[in-house]
Amino acid sequence: MAKKITLSSIKADIGSIGGHTRPTQAMMKGAEQCVKDAIKKGLLVDGLAISTGDDINLLMSHTYGVNAESVHTFAWNCFKDLTKIAQKQGLYGAGQDLLVDAPAGTVRGAGPAVAEIEFERDAHSKDRPAEAFLVFAADKCSPGAYNLPFYLVFCDPNHCGGLLLSPKMHKGFIIEIIDMDYKSRDADRIIQLSVPEGAWDVVALLHDINRFAIKAIYSRYKEDEQIVSVSADRLHNIAGTYTGKDDPVAIVRTQGIFPAPEEVVGPFSETFYVTGDARGSHTMPLMPVAINTPVTGKYCIPIVSCCAFSMDKDGKFGGLSSSHSYVDMFGQVYWDRARFQAQEQAEIMRKHGAFGVAMAEKTELSYTGLEDTLKVLDKEFKIKKHTK
Ligand code: 13P
Ligand code: MG
Ligand code: MG
Repeated sequence: MAKKITLSSIKADIGSIGGHTRPTQAMMKGAEQCVKDAIKKGLLVDGLAISTGDDINLLMSHTYGVNAESVHTFAWNCFKDLTKIAQKQGLYGAGQDLLVDAPAGTVRGAGPAVAEIEFERDAHSKDRPAEAFLVFAADKCSPGAYNLPFYLVFCDPNHCGGLLLSPKMHKGFIIEIIDMDYKSRDADRIIQLSVPEGAWDVVALLHDINRFAIKAIYSRYKEDEQIVSVSADRLHNIAGTYTGKDDPVAIVRTQGIFPAPEEVVGPFSETFYVTGDARGSHTMPLMPVAINTPVTGKYCIPIVSCCAFSMDKDGKFGGLSSSHSYVDMFGQVYWDRARFQAQEQAEIMRKHGAFGVAMAEKTELSYTGLEDTLKVLDKEFKIKKHTK
C-alpha cells in the first residue's frame, strides 16, 4: 500500500566545544534520546541525529507533511533540551541558532535550517519501487554553496551523464530559486525555471551565490515528484542581526528517474569557493568531509558532509537501528584528494589577507567592525584640488 512520507532535515547550532568546532557527546546522546522517544511515541517513523562541524542535524521520516507543527515543535523542544546540556557544560554559543523565544508553529525563520520533501512511498510503484536519498549538511557557509554543484548535476550533461543516458531525466527539471534578500518571516520570493531550455537563466540568477539559491527541484517526467529541498533561508535577513552563517542542509532523492548518487556527489570534488569561513566573512573552498567531523583546521574552512540512505516500504531508513544503516559518502579515501585540494586553495586564498575577493563582499560581512572604521575614515577624507 502506498503512503505519503515526509523526510525532514532540521539542523541547528546549539553550542560547541572550545569555539565553533563540534557538539559534545552528551549533546549527541541527548539528541538521539529525543529521536528515540519520538519514534516510540509514534510521532516519527524513523530518525537520526548527526553532526557536521558545530551543527546538529535531526533527520526524520514521518507522515505529517512539510511544515508540520508537531514535527517542528518536537525539533525545537529537542534543541531547547540540548541547549540546557550545552549551558551546563559551559559550551560556546549555547542555543546559538534558537533566535526566538518560541516558534509560531514552524521553526522556519526562527533559527534552525529546514529541508523537507513529501512523497509517495510505494514499494510497487513502476518508477520508484526503491527510495534512495542523500542528505547533505554544510557548515561555515551559506545556502548558495549548493548552487554550482546542483546546477552541474541537473543542468549540465558533461557532469551528469544521466541527463543524456536516461530518457526520463532527458525530459528535464523545474528549478525553484529563492531570492534570499527578500525579508519576510511568512513568505518567500521565488521563481521556477524549466531546464534544459532555461539553463542560461538559471545561471544568470545562481551565479550570485549570496543572493539567490536553489530551494527545490522537481521532475518534469513526473511533475509532482520533488527531488531536492535546500534550507535556503538567510536568517540574518530575517532576524536583522548576524548570529552565525546560515549553514545549509539539503535532501536529494536519487536513482531511477532521478540522478544517481555518484552523479550528485561528483561536483563536490571540485571544492568550489563559497562565502563563509571564519566569522562568516571570507571566500573559501568547500571541503567534503566525513560526518561528525569537527571544524579544527586553520581558519574555519567551509565543510560539507553527505550520507546515503535507503527507505523501506514503511518509511524506515535505518536511523537509530543498526540492522540497516547509511553510507558516509565523503568519509572514504576517494575524497582525500579533494580535501588536499581544498587546503591548497584555502592557503592561497588566505595569503591575500583582507584584500580583493579573499574577504567576502560588503553585504556578506558578518561583523560591523570594518563598516564602523570606514564610516570614521570617510569623514576624514578631503577634496584636494589639482594644482597647475
Ligand atoms: P557557525 O555559523 O558555524 O556558528 O560559525 C560562526 C563563525 O563565525 C565561525 O568563525
Ligand atoms: Mg557556531
Ligand atoms: Mg555552524
